[in-house]
Amino acid sequence: MGALDIRQAVHADLPALIRSLGQETYFTDRLARQDAGHGFLLIAWDEEVAVGDVYVWLAPAEEPELRALLPGVALLTHLEVAAGRRNEGIGTELLRAAEQRLAAINHTKVALGVGLDNPGAQRLYQRRGYVEWRYGPVATTDVVYHPNGRHELRPELCRILIKPLNRTHHP
Ligand SMILES: CC(C)(COP(=O)(O)OP(=O)(O)OC[C@H]1O[C@@H](n2cnc3c(N)ncnc32)[C@H](O)[C@@H]1OP(=O)(O)O)[C@@H](O)C(=O)NCCC(=O)NCCS
Repeated sequence: MGALDIRQAVHADLPALIRSLGQETYFTDRLARQDAGHGFLLIAWDEEVAVGDVYVWLAPAEEPELRALLPGVALLTHLEVAAGRRNEGIGTELLRAAEQRLAAINHTKVALGVGLDNPGAQRLYQRRGYVEWRYGPVATTDVVYHPNGRHELRPELCRILIKPLNRTHHP
């Protein structure tokens, strides 16, 4: 892997994002949410090619359990690395960048949901210090974006994982 640059997305990034990662509807929506102050979209760039992304959701969670039990806690959503670039450490770097930015704006914890059928991603999160909460899995709605521009809603049971953030210590 060359030098990875992780930056908050701007509208001018959209064509390059779509070229690498597709999901035009998704990225357009997240840029609009970012503009409205509801969160931020981080993109990993390798030589100006977008190789991964994560959206940090700062607005109230869509799931009632998360709103009730983790009020005000930021959620890491839609972590993904381009299919040809997985297992190179890019996902780990995106997580680290999101956690650092949250710590810098005084967040003391971060949470995320991971599908019960995604043990690979669960291992990644556990390695980075995420621990499952004690209230069991939560029903979420996964939005699947197809290359033809359409998307579908799929119910998904997720484990909720939480990590404490320390303002001064960035492992
Ligand atoms: C999960 C994902 C973001 C990890 O990114 P990455 O750059 O490959 O991760 P890293 O190289 O930093 O770390 C590698 C670890 O990621 C996980 N991983 C690797 N390939 C994976 C895959 N196809 N699906 C899920 N997890 C995977 C594993 O834990 C792996 O380490 P291990 O198998 O040695 O234990 C990436 O695989 C991906 O985009 N998967 C599809 C989307 C997804 O499942 N996102 C998570 C939603 S909660």
